[in-house]
Amino acid sequence: MDKLQIHGGIALDGEIRISGSKNATLPILAACLLADRPVIVSNVPHLQDVTTMIELLGRMGVSVTVDEKMRVEVDASTIKEYFAPYQLVKTMRASILVLGPLLARFGSADVSLPGGCAIGARPVNIHVAGLQAMGADIHIENGYIKARARRLRGARLVLETVTVTGTENLMMAATLADGETVLENAAREPEVVDLANFLRAMGAQISGAGTDRIVIQGVERLHSCEYEVLPDRIETGTYLVAGAITAGRVRVKNTRPQHVEAVIDKLQEAGATVTSAENWIEIDMRGRRPQAVDIRTAPYPAFPTDMQAQFAALNTIAAGVGTITETIFENRFMHMLEMRRMGAEIRLEGNTAIIKGVDRLTAAPVMATDLRASASLILAALVADGRTEIERIYHIDRGYEAIEEKLQQLGAKIRRVPG
Ligand code: EPU
Repeated sequence: MDKLQIHGGIALDGEIRISGSKNATLPILAACLLADRPVIVSNVPHLQDVTTMIELLGRMGVSVTVDEKMRVEVDASTIKEYFAPYQLVKTMRASILVLGPLLARFGSADVSLPGGCAIGARPVNIHVAGLQAMGADIHIENGYIKARARRLRGARLVLETVTVTGTENLMMAATLADGETVLENAAREPEVVDLANFLRAMGAQISGAGTDRIVIQGVERLHSCEYEVLPDRIETGTYLVAGAITAGRVRVKNTRPQHVEAVIDKLQEAGATVTSAENWIEIDMRGRRPQAVDIRTAPYPAFPTDMQAQFAALNTIAAGVGTITETIFENRFMHMLEMRRMGAEIRLEGNTAIIKGVDRLTAAPVMATDLRASASLILAALVADGRTEIERIYHIDRGYEAIEEKLQQLGAKIRRVPG
């Protein structure tokens, strides 16, 4: 297995282009199942999770073609099976996103139930209960969610917890249901809005996406369209932290500053000068050490759980003591234990990590445990003395496009070596 080798100590300086959003692309590709004609999606990031979603669609008999610019054409009219196998779902939980579209369009879906996860239990009970309330007959058999329906019926659904993929699955299902569906306590994440915009481009009638109340009027069919995925706000935030932690200057282009406001606020609190325009953001630390910050994760527009690990890395070398409180997932602190091996001073108390900044981290062999944990280890390695080796980097390839190239472009000494 490949490893990443990073020599720390270089202040990053330069600019990079942000890729399309992973967590918008995955539901959008699943939503292509709803259309009766070919759909074209562009600005798709070249990532392992995207490949897995394309493979999943391909296994069902859907025709998918990808050109060299990662424009993806999906034609669901060739579908043969309404089936998401365990082998794929276990590698990517977001496979559950095909459940709503399959059921709404074809009246049948057998989707493997995702199992445990490195960051928390992550059940899908809200997805299932919502579809049942829309008239689906669902039971669990041999580890699979077996769902059947004639035509789903619109319903008023009050989601018990704010769930991103749950909101997306139910919104997709509702587009072809009979009548009106109202999703109360819906997720407000930009990826939900991007999916809603995509569905509308295919003829769906949706209002309220981006608020906690989404209203969908079911239509008979959805048609083809061309759509460009929004930029990745978590990749954006990760590179901004890379600038901050190395006391450098980084400009990220092709992004949306309004989607990372909570992150920018914390970077400013850490002492960064942040400037932005419509589609770029620049962070400049002017060589200064960051100040420790307190973070509490919560659904959008509050501080994202997917940026928590990166700020933990920032706090490890900041001046002062910072706390990180994780409220979304119950086991998302594995990176803390690895960073301790690099000399970080971190105390864990329940869902809070108390991090006392140290003057220097030292390189150590460390292991990535999930996608955002891997990103935080790379950030820590960028400032550690010596050469850090990060193992199990397949996690990073799930969600960061060309991360070595982008960091090299900013001046980092990073390379991938065969393990
Ligand atoms: N939850 C339930 N029941 C459900 C669904 C969710 O109890 O039926 C709980 C979860 O256990 C969790 C909370 O609700 O405690 C929120 O989870 P959510 O459903 O919002 O997470 P998700 O949709 O599975 C997406 C992203 C994650 C991101 C979270 C939170 C995608 C494909 N994944 O997951 O992204 O962390 O929202 O923002 O959109 C990542 O990219 O690294 C990643 C993990």
